[in-house]
Amino acid sequence: MNVSSEYQAKYHYIGNVAEQYDARRMSNPKWQREQDAIANLTGKFDPGSVVLDVPLGTGRFMPIYAEMNLKVVGLDISLDMLRQADKKNGDEVRETTFVQGDSEVLPLRTDAVDYVLCARLLNWVPPSVLSRILAEFTRVARKGIVVEIRLHEEISFLRAFSNFTNDLRRQDNLSASRVRRMLRRKGSIDGYVLHEERFVQQVFAQNRLCLREVVRVDERTDYFKRDFQPYLMYFLGKGEFEKN
Ligand SMILES: C[S@@+](CC[C@H](N)C(=O)[O-])C[C@H]1O[C@@H](n2cnc3c(N)ncnc32)[C@H](O)[C@@H]1O
Repeated sequence: MNVSSEYQAKYHYIGNVAEQYDARRMSNPKWQREQDAIANLTGKFDPGSVVLDVPLGTGRFMPIYAEMNLKVVGLDISLDMLRQADKKNGDEVRETTFVQGDSEVLPLRTDAVDYVLCARLLNWVPPSVLSRILAEFTRVARKGIVVEIRLHEEISFLRAFSNFTNDLRRQDNLSASRVRRMLRRKGSIDGYVLHEERFVQQVFAQNRLCLREVVRVDERTDYFKRDFQPYLMYFLGKGEFEKN
């Protein structure tokens, strides 16, 4: 059934948002940790593999793919984001096929690529859409899938307090405004969805995806909600038993 859903992130990344996407995010340490995680995980892909990066966004991982000699299909729903990718990455662009499309109904045949890689999308979609997208990734990936997801886990008051004091200890030059920001940090912004770990594990199991590795990109605590929120990059294997 070729039906796709409505949510904010589908229409948000156009115009100025696309133009300023990298500049507004690159200096955040999380950005570099994600680059490192992707370099580490793609280093484990079979040489010469074909990778579907969805959503490609501005093509931030394209230099890594070029270094690893991976061939890339870069898919995104936003033409403006694809244009940014096409504009900025000179040499790597030659090894990339750009496709405008929807991750819920991928315009690719079954087993079309070796690996699918998905960063910074699944927390912008509701759980039902996450399920559909994972089923699509499973359909088109022959060997494996890398997905980044922020989870949430309720924690006790004591653990929230100890996380807070640890956070304080870790900060250099902690200003009063920085402490206020840490306390005010919310688990959700418009359209942002934190997924339950149990639900995510169920979706992996339904698609017969097995865990090969997990990289912890970061973790944060919402002290008021007593909510622990690790950001994880999962490397999932597919069909190792049936297909090799
Ligand atoms: C936060 S950006 C992430 C881009 C890139 N993966 C990164 O790590 O920077 C979210 C991207 O998802 C794209 N997007 C949203 N819904 C989509 C969908 N259903 N199919 C494909 N791309 C989608 C947006 O156009 C945007 O480029």
